[in-house]
Amino acid sequence: MSSINIALLGFGTVGKGVFETIETHQERIQYYLGKPVKIVAVLVKNITKHHLSDSEVLLTDNFEDVMQIPNLDIVIDAICGKEPGFTYIKRSIEKGCHVVTANKEMFAFHGQELLSLAAKQHVSVGFEATVAGGIPIIQTLRSLLKVNRITKVEGIINGTSNYILTNMREQDLPFEQVLADAQNKGYAEANPTNDIEGFDALYKALVLSQVVFGEHPEEENIIRKGISQITQEQIENAANLGLKFKHVVKLEKQENHIQCKVQPVLLSNAHPFYSIEGVQNAVSINADIVGNITLTGPGAGKLPTASAVIEDLLHLFEKHDSVRLHDERQLEDQGEEVGQRLI
Ligand code: NDP
Ligand code: HSE
Repeated sequence: MSSINIALLGFGTVGKGVFETIETHQERIQYYLGKPVKIVAVLVKNITKHHLSDSEVLLTDNFEDVMQIPNLDIVIDAICGKEPGFTYIKRSIEKGCHVVTANKEMFAFHGQELLSLAAKQHVSVGFEATVAGGIPIIQTLRSLLKVNRITKVEGIINGTSNYILTNMREQDLPFEQVLADAQNKGYAEANPTNDIEGFDALYKALVLSQVVFGEHPEEENIIRKGISQITQEQIENAANLGLKFKHVVKLEKQENHIQCKVQPVLLSNAHPFYSIEGVQNAVSINADIVGNITLTGPGAGKLPTASAVIEDLLHLFEKHDSVRLHDERQLEDQGEEVGQRLI
Protein backbone atom coordinates (compact mmCIF):
# COMPACT_ATOMS: atom_id res chain seq x y z
CA MET A 1 0.00 0.00 0.00
CA SER A 2 1.40 3.46 -0.84
CA SER A 3 1.80 5.96 1.97
CA ILE A 4 1.17 9.65 2.64
CA ASN A 5 4.67 11.11 2.80
CA ILE A 6 5.51 13.87 5.23
CA ALA A 7 8.54 16.09 5.74
CA LEU A 8 8.92 17.48 9.24
CA LEU A 9 10.67 20.85 9.53
CA GLY A 10 12.05 21.12 13.08
CA PHE A 11 12.70 18.44 15.65
CA GLY A 12 12.35 20.27 18.95
CA THR A 13 9.42 20.13 21.39
CA VAL A 14 6.73 20.23 18.71
CA GLY A 15 8.57 18.27 16.01
CA LYS A 16 9.34 15.41 18.39
CA GLY A 17 5.74 15.42 19.66
CA VAL A 18 4.45 15.11 16.10
CA PHE A 19 6.98 12.41 15.20
CA GLU A 20 6.12 10.33 18.27
CA THR A 21 2.36 10.79 17.92
CA ILE A 22 2.45 9.63 14.31
CA GLU A 23 4.25 6.51 15.57
CA THR A 24 1.99 5.86 18.55
CA HIS A 25 -1.28 6.68 16.73
CA GLN A 26 -0.44 5.35 13.27
CA GLU A 27 -3.31 2.89 13.23
CA ARG A 28 -5.86 5.53 14.17
CA ILE A 29 -4.52 8.01 11.60
CA GLN A 30 -4.54 5.35 8.92
CA TYR A 31 -8.13 4.54 9.83
CA TYR A 32 -9.14 8.08 8.85
CA LEU A 33 -6.90 8.49 5.83
CA GLY A 34 -7.04 4.99 4.40
CA LYS A 35 -3.26 4.95 4.00
CA PRO A 36 -0.26 4.80 6.29
CA VAL A 37 1.36 8.12 7.10
CA LYS A 38 5.14 8.16 6.90
CA ILE A 39 7.65 10.80 7.96
CA VAL A 40 10.24 10.57 5.21
CA ALA A 41 12.44 13.54 6.16
CA VAL A 42 13.30 15.64 9.19
CA LEU A 43 14.95 19.06 8.75
CA VAL A 44 16.95 20.53 11.63
CA LYS A 45 19.38 23.40 12.08
CA ASN A 46 22.19 21.50 13.79
CA ILE A 47 22.33 17.94 12.53
CA THR A 48 24.98 16.85 15.07
CA LYS A 49 22.46 17.26 17.91
CA HIS A 50 20.07 14.67 16.48
CA HIS A 51 19.78 10.97 15.88
CA LEU A 52 16.88 9.07 14.31
CA SER A 53 16.56 5.37 15.01
CA ASP A 54 14.86 4.76 11.64
CA SER A 55 17.64 4.96 9.04
CA GLU A 56 15.07 5.23 6.23
CA VAL A 57 14.10 8.74 7.42
CA LEU A 58 16.27 11.42 5.86
CA LEU A 59 17.79 13.67 8.56
CA THR A 60 19.12 16.83 6.98
CA ASP A 61 20.01 20.46 7.60
CA ASN A 62 19.48 21.36 3.95
CA PHE A 63 15.94 22.28 2.88
CA GLU A 64 16.81 21.59 -0.77
CA ASP A 65 17.21 17.89 0.15
CA VAL A 66 13.60 17.95 1.33
CA MET A 67 12.38 19.55 -1.89
CA GLN A 68 14.09 16.82 -3.93
CA ILE A 69 12.03 14.05 -2.31
CA PRO A 70 9.68 12.52 -4.88
CA ASN A 71 6.02 11.99 -3.94
CA LEU A 72 6.18 14.34 -0.96
CA ASP A 73 2.57 15.05 0.11
CA ILE A 74 2.75 17.16 3.27
CA VAL A 75 5.22 19.52 4.91
CA ILE A 76 4.83 20.16 8.65
CA ASP A 77 6.44 23.37 9.90
CA ALA A 78 7.68 23.17 13.49
CA ILE A 79 10.54 25.65 13.30
CA CYS A 80 10.69 29.13 14.82
CA GLY A 81 10.44 32.66 13.44
CA LYS A 82 9.35 34.33 10.22
CA GLU A 83 12.36 33.16 8.26
CA PRO A 84 13.33 30.70 6.94
CA GLY A 85 9.85 29.36 7.78
CA PHE A 86 8.02 31.56 5.28
CA THR A 87 10.40 30.75 2.42
CA TYR A 88 10.25 27.02 3.17
CA ILE A 89 6.47 26.92 3.38
CA LYS A 90 6.06 28.97 0.22
CA ARG A 91 8.40 26.61 -1.63
CA SER A 92 6.51 23.61 -0.26
CA ILE A 93 3.17 24.96 -1.49
CA GLU A 94 4.65 25.80 -4.89
CA LYS A 95 5.85 22.21 -5.09
CA GLY A 96 2.24 21.12 -4.58
CA CYS A 97 2.48 19.95 -0.97
CA HIS A 98 -0.17 20.44 1.69
CA VAL A 99 1.17 22.30 4.70
CA VAL A 100 0.53 22.24 8.44
CA THR A 101 2.23 24.89 10.54
CA ALA A 102 2.67 25.55 14.27
CA ASN A 103 4.79 28.62 13.56
CA LYS A 104 2.55 31.48 14.69
CA GLU A 105 5.12 34.24 14.21
CA MET A 106 5.54 33.33 10.56
CA PHE A 107 1.83 32.71 10.03
CA ALA A 108 0.70 35.95 11.74
CA PHE A 109 2.53 37.95 9.08
CA HIS A 110 2.35 35.68 6.03
CA GLY A 111 -0.76 33.55 6.66
CA GLN A 112 -3.04 35.30 4.19
CA GLU A 113 -0.46 35.21 1.41
CA LEU A 114 0.20 31.51 2.01
CA LEU A 115 -3.50 30.66 2.02
CA SER A 116 -4.00 32.51 -1.29
CA LEU A 117 -1.03 30.75 -2.84
CA ALA A 118 -2.29 27.39 -1.54
CA ALA A 119 -5.72 27.99 -3.09
CA LYS A 120 -4.06 28.58 -6.48
CA GLN A 121 -2.04 25.40 -6.09
CA HIS A 122 -5.10 23.39 -4.93
CA VAL A 123 -3.47 22.44 -1.66
CA SER A 124 -4.44 23.18 1.95
CA VAL A 125 -2.79 24.92 4.87
CA GLY A 126 -3.58 23.91 8.45
CA PHE A 127 -2.66 26.27 11.28
CA GLU A 128 -4.62 25.05 14.32
CA ALA A 129 -1.44 24.72 16.41
CA THR A 130 -0.54 28.39 15.95
CA VAL A 131 -3.05 29.48 18.63
CA ALA A 132 -3.79 28.11 22.12
CA GLY A 133 -1.86 24.83 21.88
CA GLY A 134 -4.20 21.86 22.12
CA ILE A 135 -7.47 23.84 22.15
CA PRO A 136 -9.21 23.42 18.77
CA ILE A 137 -9.88 27.15 18.56
CA ILE A 138 -9.43 27.68 14.81
CA GLN A 139 -11.78 24.86 13.94
CA THR A 140 -14.32 26.12 16.49
CA LEU A 141 -14.20 29.68 15.18
CA ARG A 142 -14.56 28.55 11.58
CA SER A 143 -17.53 26.43 12.50
CA LEU A 144 -19.21 29.25 14.45
CA LEU A 145 -18.51 31.79 11.70
CA LYS A 146 -20.53 29.82 9.19
CA VAL A 147 -23.64 31.27 10.82
CA ASN A 148 -22.61 33.57 13.69
CA ARG A 149 -21.17 37.05 13.65
CA ILE A 150 -18.37 37.19 16.19
CA THR A 151 -17.92 40.51 17.95
CA LYS A 152 -15.28 39.79 20.56
CA VAL A 153 -12.63 37.20 21.40
CA GLU A 154 -10.78 37.22 24.71
CA GLY A 155 -8.19 34.78 25.91
CA ILE A 156 -5.29 33.67 27.98
CA ILE A 157 -3.25 32.46 25.03
CA ASN A 158 0.32 32.40 26.25
CA GLY A 159 0.88 29.33 28.38
CA THR A 160 4.32 30.42 29.57
CA SER A 161 3.03 33.72 31.01
CA ASN A 162 0.19 31.99 32.81
CA TYR A 163 2.57 29.32 34.10
CA ILE A 164 4.93 31.98 35.45
CA LEU A 165 2.18 34.06 37.11
CA THR A 166 0.62 30.95 38.66
CA ASN A 167 3.86 29.62 40.10
CA MET A 168 5.07 33.00 41.34
CA ARG A 169 1.80 33.24 43.30
CA GLU A 170 1.22 29.66 44.39
CA GLN A 171 4.81 28.54 44.99
CA ASP A 172 6.25 31.96 45.84
CA LEU A 173 9.03 31.30 43.30
CA PRO A 174 11.09 34.04 41.59
CA PHE A 175 10.28 34.98 37.99
CA GLU A 176 13.59 33.73 36.52
CA GLN A 177 13.27 30.32 38.16
CA VAL A 178 9.75 29.71 36.84
CA LEU A 179 10.73 30.94 33.38
CA ALA A 180 13.65 28.45 33.35
CA ASP A 181 11.20 25.73 34.40
CA ALA A 182 8.82 26.70 31.55
CA GLN A 183 11.75 26.52 29.12
CA ASN A 184 12.74 23.06 30.41
CA LYS A 185 9.18 21.85 29.98
CA GLY A 186 9.14 23.06 26.36
CA TYR A 187 6.42 25.70 26.91
CA ALA A 188 8.53 28.79 26.22
CA GLU A 189 9.63 29.96 22.78
CA ALA A 190 13.26 29.61 21.68
CA ASN A 191 13.40 33.33 22.40
CA PRO A 192 11.38 33.63 25.64
CA THR A 193 11.20 37.41 25.22
CA ASN A 194 8.33 36.64 22.85
CA ASP A 195 6.43 35.02 25.73
CA ILE A 196 7.18 37.37 28.59
CA GLU A 197 6.82 40.61 26.61
CA GLY A 198 3.52 39.67 24.98
CA PHE A 199 4.77 39.21 21.40
CA ASP A 200 3.74 35.55 21.23
CA ALA A 201 0.23 36.40 22.43
CA LEU A 202 0.09 39.26 19.92
CA TYR A 203 1.07 36.96 17.01
CA LYS A 204 -1.73 34.61 18.06
CA ALA A 205 -4.14 37.55 18.33
CA LEU A 206 -3.22 38.57 14.76
CA VAL A 207 -4.00 35.05 13.53
CA LEU A 208 -7.33 35.14 15.41
CA SER A 209 -8.15 38.58 14.02
CA GLN A 210 -7.54 37.38 10.47
CA VAL A 211 -9.80 34.36 11.02
CA VAL A 212 -12.58 36.22 12.84
CA PHE A 213 -12.59 39.66 11.20
CA GLY A 214 -10.73 38.95 7.96
CA GLU A 215 -8.05 41.52 8.73
CA HIS A 216 -5.47 42.61 11.28
CA PRO A 217 -5.99 45.52 13.69
CA GLU A 218 -4.18 48.73 12.68
CA GLU A 219 -0.95 49.27 14.57
CA GLU A 220 -2.36 52.31 16.39
CA ASN A 221 -5.15 50.12 17.78
CA ILE A 222 -2.80 47.56 19.29
CA ILE A 223 -1.62 47.58 22.90
CA ARG A 224 1.06 45.02 23.76
CA LYS A 225 2.48 44.51 27.23
CA GLY A 226 4.05 41.46 28.80
CA ILE A 227 4.41 40.18 32.35
CA SER A 228 8.12 40.81 32.88
CA GLN A 229 7.57 43.89 35.03
CA ILE A 230 5.16 42.24 37.48
CA THR A 231 6.85 41.75 40.84
CA GLN A 232 6.26 39.10 43.48
CA GLU A 233 5.19 41.88 45.85
CA GLN A 234 2.49 43.05 43.42
CA ILE A 235 1.28 39.47 43.00
CA GLU A 236 1.13 39.02 46.78
CA ASN A 237 -0.69 42.33 47.34
CA ALA A 238 -3.24 41.40 44.68
CA ALA A 239 -3.72 37.95 46.26
CA ASN A 240 -4.43 39.61 49.62
CA LEU A 241 -7.29 41.45 47.92
CA GLY A 242 -8.58 38.22 46.33
CA LEU A 243 -7.23 39.20 42.89
CA LYS A 244 -4.95 37.45 40.40
CA PHE A 245 -2.79 38.82 37.60
CA LYS A 246 -3.60 37.19 34.25
CA HIS A 247 -2.13 37.95 30.84
CA VAL A 248 -5.16 38.49 28.66
CA VAL A 249 -5.73 39.22 24.98
CA LYS A 250 -8.86 41.12 24.01
CA LEU A 251 -9.82 41.43 20.38
CA GLU A 252 -12.93 43.46 19.69
CA LYS A 253 -14.70 44.80 16.64
CA GLN A 254 -15.52 48.49 17.17
CA GLU A 255 -17.57 50.56 14.76
CA ASN A 256 -14.67 51.49 12.46
CA HIS A 257 -11.76 49.44 13.64
CA ILE A 258 -10.52 46.37 15.48
CA GLN A 259 -9.17 46.95 18.96
CA CYS A 260 -6.45 44.57 20.17
CA LYS A 261 -5.24 44.64 23.76
CA VAL A 262 -2.55 42.25 24.95
CA GLN A 263 -1.70 42.96 28.59
CA PRO A 264 -1.69 41.78 32.18
CA VAL A 265 -4.94 42.50 34.03
CA LEU A 266 -6.20 41.94 37.57
CA LEU A 267 -9.15 39.56 37.80
CA SER A 268 -11.50 38.67 40.63
CA ASN A 269 -13.02 35.23 41.13
CA ALA A 270 -16.12 36.41 39.27
CA HIS A 271 -14.16 36.22 36.00
CA PRO A 272 -14.10 32.90 34.09
CA PHE A 273 -10.32 33.23 33.54
CA TYR A 274 -9.61 33.52 37.31
CA SER A 275 -9.31 29.75 37.70
CA ILE A 276 -7.17 29.17 34.58
CA GLU A 277 -3.84 28.13 36.05
CA GLY A 278 -0.41 26.92 34.96
CA VAL A 279 0.06 26.24 31.26
CA GLN A 280 -3.70 26.18 30.66
CA ASN A 281 -5.17 28.56 28.09
CA ALA A 282 -8.74 29.80 27.75
CA VAL A 283 -10.53 31.49 24.88
CA SER A 284 -13.89 33.18 25.26
CA ILE A 285 -15.92 33.95 22.13
CA ASN A 286 -18.87 36.33 21.90
CA ALA A 287 -21.14 35.61 18.97
CA ASP A 288 -24.52 37.00 18.00
CA ILE A 289 -26.50 33.77 17.81
CA VAL A 290 -24.88 31.35 20.22
CA GLY A 291 -23.88 33.96 22.84
CA ASN A 292 -20.73 33.25 24.84
CA ILE A 293 -18.55 30.15 24.56
CA THR A 294 -15.39 29.58 26.59
CA LEU A 295 -12.90 26.86 25.70
CA THR A 296 -10.11 25.85 28.06
CA GLY A 297 -7.24 23.41 27.72
CA PRO A 298 -3.47 22.94 27.60
CA GLY A 299 -1.96 25.94 25.83
CA ALA A 300 1.55 24.68 25.11
CA GLY A 301 3.80 21.64 25.26
CA LYS A 302 4.78 18.63 23.23
CA LEU A 303 1.68 16.48 23.08
CA PRO A 304 -1.11 19.09 23.18
CA THR A 305 0.55 20.85 20.24
CA ALA A 306 1.13 17.56 18.43
CA SER A 307 -2.57 16.85 18.85
CA ALA A 308 -3.45 20.12 17.08
CA VAL A 309 -0.98 19.39 14.26
CA ILE A 310 -2.30 15.87 13.70
CA GLU A 311 -5.91 17.12 13.75
CA ASP A 312 -4.94 19.50 10.95
CA LEU A 313 -3.28 16.65 9.11
CA LEU A 314 -6.57 14.76 9.10
CA HIS A 315 -8.64 17.84 8.26
CA LEU A 316 -6.50 18.50 5.18
CA PHE A 317 -8.35 15.68 3.50
CA GLU A 318 -11.78 16.07 5.06
CA LYS A 319 -13.17 18.42 2.48
CA HIS A 320 -12.59 15.76 -0.15
CA ASP A 321 -14.27 12.91 1.70
CA SER A 322 -16.46 12.52 4.79
CA VAL A 323 -14.59 9.40 5.82
CA ARG A 324 -15.35 9.91 9.50
CA LEU A 325 -19.04 9.30 9.02
CA HIS A 326 -18.48 5.80 7.72
CA ASP A 327 -18.37 2.97 10.17
CA GLU A 328 -15.19 1.03 10.82
CA ARG A 329 -16.26 -1.96 8.79
CA GLN A 330 -16.89 0.18 5.72
CA LEU A 331 -13.48 1.76 6.09
CA GLU A 332 -11.79 -1.58 6.26
CA ASP A 333 -13.62 -2.59 3.11
CA GLN A 334 -12.70 0.61 1.27
CA GLY A 335 -9.06 0.52 2.38
CA GLU A 336 -6.76 1.51 -0.44
CA GLU A 337 -9.55 3.00 -2.52
CA VAL A 338 -10.34 5.69 0.09
CA GLY A 339 -6.67 6.61 0.40
CA GLN A 340 -6.27 6.99 -3.34
CA ARG A 341 -9.20 9.34 -3.56
CA LEU A 342 -7.86 11.50 -0.73
CA ILE A 343 -4.49 12.37 -2.23
P1 NDP B 1 12.20 24.21 19.54
O1 NDP B 1 13.15 25.33 19.75
O2 NDP B 1 12.05 23.19 20.60
O3 NDP B 1 12.56 23.45 18.19
C1 NDP B 1 12.78 24.14 17.01
C2 NDP B 1 13.30 23.17 15.98
O4 NDP B 1 13.44 23.87 14.74
C3 NDP B 1 14.68 22.59 16.31
O5 NDP B 1 14.73 21.23 15.99
C4 NDP B 1 15.63 23.38 15.41
O6 NDP B 1 16.77 22.63 15.00
C5 NDP B 1 14.74 23.64 14.21
N1 NDP B 1 15.15 24.85 13.50
C6 NDP B 1 15.22 26.10 13.97
N2 NDP B 1 15.64 26.93 13.00
C7 NDP B 1 15.85 26.17 11.90
C8 NDP B 1 16.32 26.44 10.60
N3 NDP B 1 16.67 27.66 10.21
N4 NDP B 1 16.40 25.42 9.72
C9 NDP B 1 16.08 24.16 10.10
N5 NDP B 1 15.62 23.85 11.33
C10 NDP B 1 15.52 24.84 12.22
O7 NDP B 1 10.79 24.90 19.22
P2 NDP B 1 9.35 24.32 19.49
O8 NDP B 1 9.28 22.93 19.03
O9 NDP B 1 8.93 24.66 20.86
O10 NDP B 1 8.47 25.25 18.53
C11 NDP B 1 8.46 25.05 17.14
C12 NDP B 1 7.41 25.99 16.51
O11 NDP B 1 6.13 25.66 17.05
C13 NDP B 1 7.64 27.46 16.84
O12 NDP B 1 7.26 28.22 15.73
C14 NDP B 1 6.70 27.72 18.02
O13 NDP B 1 6.28 29.04 18.10
C15 NDP B 1 5.55 26.79 17.68
N6 NDP B 1 4.76 26.33 18.81
C16 NDP B 1 5.37 25.84 19.94
C17 NDP B 1 4.61 25.32 20.96
C18 NDP B 1 5.23 24.77 22.20
O14 NDP B 1 4.48 24.43 23.14
N7 NDP B 1 6.54 24.64 22.28
C19 NDP B 1 3.15 25.30 20.89
C20 NDP B 1 2.60 25.80 19.64
C21 NDP B 1 3.39 26.29 18.66
P3 NDP B 1 17.90 22.20 16.03
O15 NDP B 1 17.22 21.20 16.95
O16 NDP B 1 18.96 21.57 15.20
O17 NDP B 1 18.32 23.43 16.75
N1 HSE C 1 5.39 29.67 23.95
C1 HSE C 1 4.02 29.42 23.69
C2 HSE C 1 3.23 29.57 24.96
C3 HSE C 1 3.83 28.04 23.11
O1 HSE C 1 3.84 29.54 26.04
O2 HSE C 1 2.01 29.75 24.89
C4 HSE C 1 2.43 27.77 22.65
O3 HSE C 1 2.09 28.53 21.54
